Amino acid sequence: MSDFEKKKDELKEKIRVSKDLKEINLIHEEILGKNGFINLEFKKIVSLDPKEKKNFAARINKLKVELQDIYNKKLIDISNQEINSKIAKEKIDVTLPEKEFKIGKVHPISQVIDEITSIFSEIGFSVEEGPDVENEYNNFTALNTPENHPAKDMHDTFYLDENMKTLLRTHTSPVQVRTMLKGKPPFKIIAPGRTYRSDSDQTHTPMFHQLEGLHIDQNINMGHLKGCLNYFIKEYFEVEKIKMRFRPSHFPFTEPSAEVDIGYRLENNNIIIGEGDKWLEILGCGMVHPNVLKNCKVDSKKYQGFAFGIGIDRLAMLKYGINDLRSFFECDYRWLNHYGFDPLDVPTNYRGLSR
Ligand code: PHE
Repeated sequence: MSDFEKKKDELKEKIRVSKDLKEINLIHEEILGKNGFINLEFKKIVSLDPKEKKNFAARINKLKVELQDIYNKKLIDISNQEINSKIAKEKIDVTLPEKEFKIGKVHPISQVIDEITSIFSEIGFSVEEGPDVENEYNNFTALNTPENHPAKDMHDTFYLDENMKTLLRTHTSPVQVRTMLKGKPPFKIIAPGRTYRSDSDQTHTPMFHQLEGLHIDQNINMGHLKGCLNYFIKEYFEVEKIKMRFRPSHFPFTEPSAEVDIGYRLENNNIIIGEGDKWLEILGCGMVHPNVLKNCKVDSKKYQGFAFGIGIDRLAMLKYGINDLRSFFECDYRWLNHYGFDPLDVPTNYRGLSR
């Protein structure tokens, strides 16, 4: 084998065995670079016999093409290898625990809404929702509220237009109207949601939460209302017995109407529900007024029933010992960390609502 052939094999082998980008770059310099082997060979041409020049040039050219070809292929191989090993190294093991992680908390209001929903669904209530932005008809007129009722006052209600036709709902009762207008009796629903009144102090915030209940059928009377609320309050506070009283009241959309108080006592600043001689108002209720049924296209000769509206925030405060309503809406992460719930702690009746 001639020296040239030997050199040729040696160079090819060198390219083939190169291991990484750095090495192959150096080899490229050495062979195909400006001062590399091939260019140095070309330079020899000037000193050659004119007869040999052509042959020599052709041989070097052919070698150059061959080496360039091997180099190109090897370069692709090495690049692929490097990418693959990078991917293998960077592969994320999703089963590894996080180094540092924060668990978000469920807001007590959301948790309490879930608890209440779970309790009422046990006895056949389904959940309805209505919009926060309501029209005057659903919020007042259909609910038999007279034109001069104080609730309609600009000072109490957030109106969204000059004609006082659109407003932020002042209670969840418009969901009664929406539910009855879109369906056929019987109705047995609850409707949790945000409500708005122009009010702000330690026990009132401009936005608060209510839960509406509505049960309309052919033979529903006040006894059912009482039984239903009795069951609910016992389940919600997770106590065997409660003290509950119906106080006569007035709402334009129920007749008769009542407010419900529950009995409690204080022990080292803790509220003990179901004992003692103090009373706390927690909801308004009554038998749905025939005018409301009429406005909602329900035959009031055939159907009747009860409705109630519970203050959710108040219930949450009572159960979880929160004493300032405003703290619910301050978005203080430290507060949420203390009073919030584990996201997986979904309330269910059979397991116990608050364990
Ligand atoms: N909507 C009443 C309120 O906000 C509560 C209520 C609801 C009363 C249903 C009776 C029946 O105060």
